[in-house]
Amino acid sequence: MDKVVIVTGGSRGIGAATSMLLALNGYAVCINYRSRNKDAELLADKITQQGGKVFCFCADVSKEDDVIRLFEAVENHFGRVTHLVNNAGILFTQSRLVDLTLARFNRVMSTNINSCFLCCREAIKRMSSGGAIVNVSSAAARSGAPNEYIDYAASKGAMDTLTKGLSLELAAQGIRVNAVRPGFIETEMHADGGEPDRVNRLSPEIPLQRGGKPEEVATAIAWLLSDEASYVTGTFIDVAGGK
Ligand SMILES: NC(=O)c1ccc[n+]([C@@H]2O[C@H](COP(=O)([O-])OP(=O)(O)OC[C@H]3O[C@@H](n4cnc5c(N)ncnc54)[C@H](OP(=O)(O)O)[C@@H]3O)[C@@H](O)[C@H]2O)c1
Repeated sequence: MDKVVIVTGGSRGIGAATSMLLALNGYAVCINYRSRNKDAELLADKITQQGGKVFCFCADVSKEDDVIRLFEAVENHFGRVTHLVNNAGILFTQSRLVDLTLARFNRVMSTNINSCFLCCREAIKRMSSGGAIVNVSSAAARSGAPNEYIDYAASKGAMDTLTKGLSLELAAQGIRVNAVRPGFIETEMHADGGEPDRVNRLSPEIPLQRGGKPEEVATAIAWLLSDEASYVTGTFIDVAGGK
C-alpha cells in the first residue's frame, strides 16, 4: 500500500523540512498550509524536481469543515491517508498572562490543539490497516513559557496529554501515536512572537549552545512515523539541545 501523509503547516519551517524528508523517503505528501500559497508551491516544485509525489492543499486546520475537506481532497488525490503529522501551530507576541485576551487564548487553542483533535479523528477513520501519527508539541509544554506565552505552552501540554491517551486507545488497532517536543528552532515563528532573533539570544542557555535546525526536528518526526519505530507508541522525543 502507498504511504500517504498529511503534514499540517507543511509549507514552512519544521513542516517544510518534514514534507521534503518524507517525500524523499517515498511518501506521497500533502503539504497543508493556511494562506501563504507561494511558499507551498515553491516547496512542491522542489519536491517534484527530486522525483517526489506532492499535493498542496489550503485549509485552516482549526476549522472542522476545512479539515474534512482536506482529508477528502487527499483521499481523492492519493488514496487513503496512512500517516499524519500534526505540525501547524501559532503563537503571538510575548506577554504575561494577565494581559492576554480571551480571543487570543481561544485562537491559540483552536489552531494548536483543536486542529490536532480534528485531524487525528479524520485520520483514524481512514487507518483501517494501521498507521502512525506524530504530533509536533514543544518544550514549552514542560517549561510553561512564563512571561512569554503560557497560552501556547498550555496548548502544547494538551497536545501531550492527547498523544498519551490516544496512543493507548489505538494501540490494539495498530495505530501508533507519538510526539516530538522541539526546543528553540530557527524558523519564522519567533518573529510572530515579536522577537525574530530569540533563538540567538537564548543560545547560551541551551546546553548544546545553539538553536536547532528544522531538518533536525524533521529527522525525529520521520523516524517516529516510520516502520523503524514499529514498537514505539505514546512516546515523546525532546529535540531541544538538552534544554
Ligand atoms: N520554531 C520553534 O522554535 C518551535 C519550537 C517548539 C515547537 N514548535 C512547533 O513546531 C510547529 C511548526 O513550527 P514552525 O516554527 O515551523 O512554524 P512556522 O515557521 O511559523 O510555520 C507555520 C506553518 O503552519 C501553518 N499554519 C499556521 N496556522 C495554520 C492553520 N490554522 N491551518 C493550517 N496551517 C497553519 C503555516 O501556514 P502559512 O504559511 O500559510 O501561514 C506554516 O506552514 C508548530 O506546531 C510549533 O508550535 C516550533
